[in-house]
Amino acid sequence: MKLKSQINNVIKDAFKNAGIEYEPMSVSEATKPEFGDYQFNGAMALSKKLGKNPREIAQNILDNMELTKVVNKAQIAGPGFINLWINPDWLALECEKAISDDRLGISKNDKPQKVVVDYSGPNMAKQMHVGHLRSTIIGDTLSNLLTFLGDEVIRQNHIGDWGTQFGMLIAYLEMKDEDGLVSLKDLEQFYKDAKGEFDANADFANRAREYVVKIQSGDEHCLELWKNFIDISLGHCEEVYGKLNVNLTRDDVRAESFYNDSLSKVIEVLDDKGILKESNGAKCVFLDGEEIPVIVQKGDGGYLYATTDLAALWYRANELGAKRISYVVDARQGGHFKQVFKVAKDAGFVPEDVKLEHIAFGTMMDKGGKPFKTRDGGTVKLIDLLDEAVIKAKETIKNRDEYTSQQIDELAKIIGIGAVKYADLAINRESNYIFNWDKMLSFEGNTSLYMQYAYARIQSIFRKYNSTIDGKIIISDELEHRLAVMLLRFEDVLSRSAEDASPNQITTYLYELVTLFMRFYEQNPILKDGVKDDIKMSRLKLADLTAKTIKQGLDILGIKVVDKL
Ligand code: ARG
Repeated sequence: MKLKSQINNVIKDAFKNAGIEYEPMSVSEATKPEFGDYQFNGAMALSKKLGKNPREIAQNILDNMELTKVVNKAQIAGPGFINLWINPDWLALECEKAISDDRLGISKNDKPQKVVVDYSGPNMAKQMHVGHLRSTIIGDTLSNLLTFLGDEVIRQNHIGDWGTQFGMLIAYLEMKDEDGLVSLKDLEQFYKDAKGEFDANADFANRAREYVVKIQSGDEHCLELWKNFIDISLGHCEEVYGKLNVNLTRDDVRAESFYNDSLSKVIEVLDDKGILKESNGAKCVFLDGEEIPVIVQKGDGGYLYATTDLAALWYRANELGAKRISYVVDARQGGHFKQVFKVAKDAGFVPEDVKLEHIAFGTMMDKGGKPFKTRDGGTVKLIDLLDEAVIKAKETIKNRDEYTSQQIDELAKIIGIGAVKYADLAINRESNYIFNWDKMLSFEGNTSLYMQYAYARIQSIFRKYNSTIDGKIIISDELEHRLAVMLLRFEDVLSRSAEDASPNQITTYLYELVTLFMRFYEQNPILKDGVKDDIKMSRLKLADLTAKTIKQGLDILGIKVVDKL
């Protein structure tokens, strides 16, 4: 249920009754409990327009407001705010509905869209590094979220599997034969060795160059080797996806090479439209107000990253029929996407009504504020980072003798990976982000462990209670009231987060929810002796809905919960 629109409707009706033309002004969540649950501040904006005192307008709206089912108390405050309180009986009923629904009462989009989410996109020549972490998990979260809200999501993994460096890698693979496949286990090392050979051995370098030409002209033997190489590299990525609990499969791969046959067509169409210009032998598109053109074909005939992206845009809009195409890529590629989107629209590769967006994210930094590197200055392999997360998570729970060592291992994976993902998703995605093990693996603060702990704690209440819940939700005090409102806000939060493609709105919400629940639980004991039965049932139900909401929220972020912690 979209709580906010229910409150907005109350305001809208009041305007109608008062005979005042209403512009879409919206209520906002009250910032303090004494301001009610929601606040309407439109009277101030209207006062200029109507030439009346804002308090007078607010009074008029209030006089015309039906205080019944949804909102049962409203007050004018300050210069002309209207503070609104939600009817606790209605809150209780809506929470009941949410508990007994798989989707927690959250409806599916009434206008579902076909959305392409382009994310992860690792380069096959090298091992995945930390830079790919953010794209992979932000993209996956966005895809989960849109799917949950009812959109038809097409995940696209635009892997970099084409380019001159593959000539070198294939030549090296062939030189090493069987051995090559073995050393491919460590792609980083394989790349270094191949490069070493390339720089030191002129024969090898020549062979590598020949291979480039051969792969590009479709030589079967070379293509075979190339395919083999990509297959193994992709296997590395899939290992990472598995560890990360990310929903990307082989079916989602539309590699750069997938577009090879469409590239000449891209040039042709641009030429036909008259937007192609030659500059220093290269084929370029000059955009208004920009000095540096978009190069789409080099003088030697080679195509570029932008050419492939134009072909991909055509495919996504026309073949896949997407209405929204979202690229979850490092902010540093902002210029590239701005240009490519403009060219694609100008050339009619993508219909006008298709929304193209670059979901940009900042760089991962170390504690000192420098880009994240290994101690010797190399790039951090993603797989090493994830393994370290699990080891560190194990440290935090190793003293619990209630678990078998196998359970500890399982738990460490869930906690460690959850911590890395949550810490990343919890910051404003466009900011650079400081990687800090201690902070992310803390039981306190806005961390996944805090959420997982709260979830497990609620489960333990139910284990102790160990019986069926028979009763209704009764909102009997302020904290219960606030908790119920918070729980019902979930759908608003999800839909805003989907619109803005910002997972941190979900984490912020979860943090507020859990903090509020912990306070509620402290002040309102559930199973303690002396708690009346009907109150106990009601509180159990609120706890249950809280747990379900945490689980659903974390599920969208691709983070698991545990029953015991
Ligand atoms: N392979 C690219 C990189 O690592 C990311 C690909 C992003 N997607 C795209 N359609 N350009 O930087």
